Amino acid sequence: MKIGIITGASSGLGKEFVRQSLKAFPEIEEFWLVARREEKIRKNVESLDGAKFKIVPLDLAKDDSYKEFSALLKEENPDIKLLINNAGLGFWGAVKELPVHQQINSVDVNVKAVSALTAICLQYMKENARIIFVSSIASFVPNAYMTVYSATKAYINSYARALRYELKKQKISVTIVCPGPMDTEFIERGGVRSKTFKKLPYCNVEKVVKGTLKAAKKRKFVYTNKMFYKFYRVLAKILPTAWLVPVAKT
Ligand SMILES: NC(=O)c1ccc[n+]([C@@H]2O[C@H](COP(=O)([O-])OP(=O)(O)OC[C@H]3O[C@@H](n4cnc5c(N)ncnc54)[C@H](OP(=O)(O)O)[C@@H]3O)[C@@H](O)[C@H]2O)c1
Repeated sequence: MKIGIITGASSGLGKEFVRQSLKAFPEIEEFWLVARREEKIRKNVESLDGAKFKIVPLDLAKDDSYKEFSALLKEENPDIKLLINNAGLGFWGAVKELPVHQQINSVDVNVKAVSALTAICLQYMKENARIIFVSSIASFVPNAYMTVYSATKAYINSYARALRYELKKQKISVTIVCPGPMDTEFIERGGVRSKTFKKLPYCNVEKVVKGTLKAAKKRKFVYTNKMFYKFYRVLAKILPTAWLVPVAKT
């Protein structure tokens, strides 16, 4: 069975990835949708058709979830055509003040789970499969007051870049998307009340997903929505990081 796996499918970008992936990848017979809020996923897919859906309720912050996921794959032995590592979260505040468990939770979901799930899924991927990682503009320059979050997204970029090289011969493509702020539950959940965040241009969820799927189909490595952020990415490459840290603080 040809399947697609989308993490963080219960809200925001993930919910939209489910909707648009149905059209973008008509060859996929079943989508496995991962998140904790099972009921929310169920409601999201109620009116969708074009493929079957399997809801996989997992808390990706827990190591046991990888074992559970791995066992499920072993049982069904699918052909994974698409993996979208979208689940993620980040908290706003100083490292000294934010609860440690929140900081570690974002490392567990954004770094550990992404690395574990990718390695597990690769065992079931063949030529022409695609992997998408949801990164952020926060990955371009270290963001003070979203210090852990921006570091986790920088990890994603580095990991994806190296993985893309490893998978070249196997013709498995790797794409990262680096969106700017979007109006999703992310902001509320992360307690983001930063003035910088409010001033930045917001990205449209539908457009970000459309552009990402198009880039993945073309086997492009990076997709960044909006000229403003494309320019920021270039600046981050050419200017010394130490100059940009004060500007990029959230
Ligand atoms: N919104 C922004 O401004 C922005 C900007 C750049 C990048 N991003 C990135 O975009 C991605 C999607 O975020 P979003 O903006 O769509 O926010 P969102 O609406 O809060 O979605 C986050 C998703 O991650 C899932 N998730 C969180 N913790 C989880 C856990 N422990 N186990 C399993 N799933 C978990 C959530 O599902 P459950 O709660 O149901 O488990 C939810 O489906 C993230 O990687 C985020 O870093 C967001």
